[in-house]
Amino acid sequence: MSRLKEALRVSTEKVNAALDGYIPHSTDTDRRLFDAMRYSTLAGGKRLRPFLVLNSAALFDVPLDWSMSSAAAIEMVHTYSLVHDDLPAMDDDDLRRGQPTCHKKFDEATAILAGDSLLTLAFELIAAPDGHPEPAVRAEMTHRLATAAGGRGMAGGQMMDLAAEDSALDLDAVIRLQRGKTGALFRFSCEAGAILAQRGGAERDALTRYADHVGLAFQITDDLLDLEGTEADLGKAVGKDAAAGKATFVDLLGLEEARRRAGQLVDDAIAVLQPFGDKADLLRDVARYIVARKN
Ligand code: IPE
Ligand code: IPE
Ligand code: MG
Ligand code: MG
Ligand code: MG
Repeated sequence: MSRLKEALRVSTEKVNAALDGYIPHSTDTDRRLFDAMRYSTLAGGKRLRPFLVLNSAALFDVPLDWSMSSAAAIEMVHTYSLVHDDLPAMDDDDLRRGQPTCHKKFDEATAILAGDSLLTLAFELIAAPDGHPEPAVRAEMTHRLATAAGGRGMAGGQMMDLAAEDSALDLDAVIRLQRGKTGALFRFSCEAGAILAQRGGAERDALTRYADHVGLAFQITDDLLDLEGTEADLGKAVGKDAAAGKATFVDLLGLEEARRRAGQLVDDAIAVLQPFGDKADLLRDVARYIVARKN
């Protein structure tokens, strides 16, 4: 695991520096908005999605200059999703990444605007010429990010998640929910490498399948940690899903079977990376980490 630990540390440092540079400061009367965007984004977080962007791109030797703006963009979309997920109208949480949630630190209106502005800043970044010299690549990245974030992706999954409170969803419905809520941003993160490298076919398909397995394993682990983890380790409240009567994998399958499925998904994710050889070792390591993590 230490190879991964070091790689995650280095990647997180670079991603944090990029995010710090991309999110503006303001001294005008809109300052509160930028303070809130910076507060929530720079608070920490595992930076897994940017790690997947950078490492899927590294498979094809895409220059860091090109992959970094996509890595920062996906983290902005993810952070926006968390800021809105924590709002009173949604999960009503007070703690995120070990500090007060955006609406607690600022206020609800500011948190809504900070989320909106992080989402749009992400698109500003990937559509800008800095992201890739080829306009067709920028257009495809923009299209893919829109699909991942919107009604057919994360936002749609969040809608299904709200409907999962006190309703009897079956396993297929929970899988559809998770593929949107969590899976869509993971899929973008892994496909990004192939798109930036202008590679399609079997290589892109392999990354898509890897992302789908890892995304599901990630969300099963998030649900397990909600039940078994601690607030101190996670930096967010625990026991929320059961309290809300939410249909999750753990709820439907029980702890042991949920854990077994997550492990199986990791094995499947690792298996599809076979065509990439040793170059994909960090992607293999991060798949294992995603289910072994404590936060
Ligand atoms: C938490 O995501 C929200 C889910 C999609 C389940 P992460 O566990 O990746 O959150 P951070 O970025 O590390 O805070
Ligand atoms: C939120 O899922 C996922 C998104 C923000 C899209 P959860 O509600 O399970 O995430 P946590 O547990 O609050 O991090
Ligand atoms: Mg939620
Ligand atoms: Mg939540
Ligand atoms: Mg959760």
